[in-house]
Amino acid sequence: MPGETQKTFYLETFGCQMNVHDSEKVIGTLMAQGYRQVSTVEEAGLILYNTCSIRDKAEQKVFHRLADYKKLQAQGKKFGVLGCVAQQEGEKIFERAPHVSLVCGSASYRNLPQMLIQIEAGNQRVTGLDDRETDECFETEFTARTNPHRGYITIIEGCDKFCAYCVVPFTRGKERSRASDSVLAEARQMAERGYTEIQLLGQNVNSYKDPAGSSSIRKKTFAELLTAVAEVARIKRVRFTTSHPRDFGRDIVAAIESVSTLCNHVHLPVQSGSTRVLDAMQRLYTREQYLERIAWMKAAKREISITTDIIVGFPGESEADFEQTLSLLDEVEYDGIFGFKYSPRPNTPALKFEDAIPDGEKARRLAVLQEKQREIQRRRNERHLGQIAEVMVEGKNEARGQWIGRTSQNKVLNFKAPEGVTPVLGSYVPVVTTGCFPNSLLGQMVI
Ligand code: SAH
Ligand code: SF4
Ligand code: F3S
Repeated sequence: MPGETQKTFYLETFGCQMNVHDSEKVIGTLMAQGYRQVSTVEEAGLILYNTCSIRDKAEQKVFHRLADYKKLQAQGKKFGVLGCVAQQEGEKIFERAPHVSLVCGSASYRNLPQMLIQIEAGNQRVTGLDDRETDECFETEFTARTNPHRGYITIIEGCDKFCAYCVVPFTRGKERSRASDSVLAEARQMAERGYTEIQLLGQNVNSYKDPAGSSSIRKKTFAELLTAVAEVARIKRVRFTTSHPRDFGRDIVAAIESVSTLCNHVHLPVQSGSTRVLDAMQRLYTREQYLERIAWMKAAKREISITTDIIVGFPGESEADFEQTLSLLDEVEYDGIFGFKYSPRPNTPALKFEDAIPDGEKARRLAVLQEKQREIQRRRNERHLGQIAEVMVEGKNEARGQWIGRTSQNKVLNFKAPEGVTPVLGSYVPVVTTGCFPNSLLGQMVI
């Protein structure tokens, strides 16, 4: 409209890759409504936080941010809280931070355009909190992807697993899958736009259940969907995260063995090496069943790199239980782990469990875990010495004069290029590994 200054927004994202990708869709939706994204809170008319509540520390971040910028309300700026803290705390956020006028969980993003209209009309308390039982996914043609070479596609939203410690089933609502033909259409569109790497996302991608789809297309299993996306013309790499051990079938390993564009990396969170603790966590698998899945991967024709998540200090975790987690690290020899101290979360069954582990002890166990894994990675990465791997060029570390690459196994391989050669960002080049550290490899581009 003539004379009207353009509507602007600032968005900061916390949390997992699902949140990062949700933000790309939210940004696209806002732009389609005439908003322009700006990079500072000061420039913005609408300030949004896409939040995470997986652990207490993550949750506190949003309240610190809101407190930091409260004074800007006097300038007419509006504030919104999106994502997992929004869904978890709901209207209580209006009490704790009265300058907030939008509280919206991820299951309600489909309704954002209507919510924006209400905010613009001056409504002080707009909510999107009632869609956790929805069967619909957030599908939009307006996704604003930030990286031009690799991008996410959500294939399944929500979670029905209800692990005893976890907020996700409460914050993201019930599990629902996107039709495979819609996923494939998005993958083809990305390939046409020049993307070469696709990462399929979901809290449990391997619980994927293809809904009806178009009548001419047969429903696909997760492994079939993976294969179909990996076979899209011009796509060079397909990744997927996260897999749940309970639903992890041999067909996924078979797909990785037979389709070279499927990356040979699987993130399979174990959480604990003790069957007793796994039972208390309601993970519904034993240490032995988990190790059986690892054995399938170790026997694969292509070497598959394996990473995991581990929680230490779950209520009642004894020293003997913790030792079992340590021995699992030795047995599996992971290529990487994410270790966390157990954090009691609202609404979850574990909140009521007795025998809490003191924070100091959790910290000690985490440090022991990480030190052990560091040694394993230092040793394991040595096997790459002298190997030539294809890397996607992701950036340059100017200070070191090194290029940053990533292998199919999801390892960072920093490398030098020969004199006069400038690798193009997003291209794939062969690199020989000449050095290794626990968390990265070093190499030289081969021409
Ligand atoms: N859907 C995935 C993981 C989602 S959350 C899965 O089932 O594996 C990512 C990781 O955060 C989890 O794997 C777990 O290790 C960790 N996590 C979740 N809730 C936690 C809690 N209350 N305290 C500490 N870590 C937690
Ligand atoms: Fe949380 Fe368990 Fe669902 Fe993963 S599977 S998101 S840990 S409830
Ligand atoms: Fe956090 Fe929600 Fe993801 S709690 S880890 S942003 S699903």
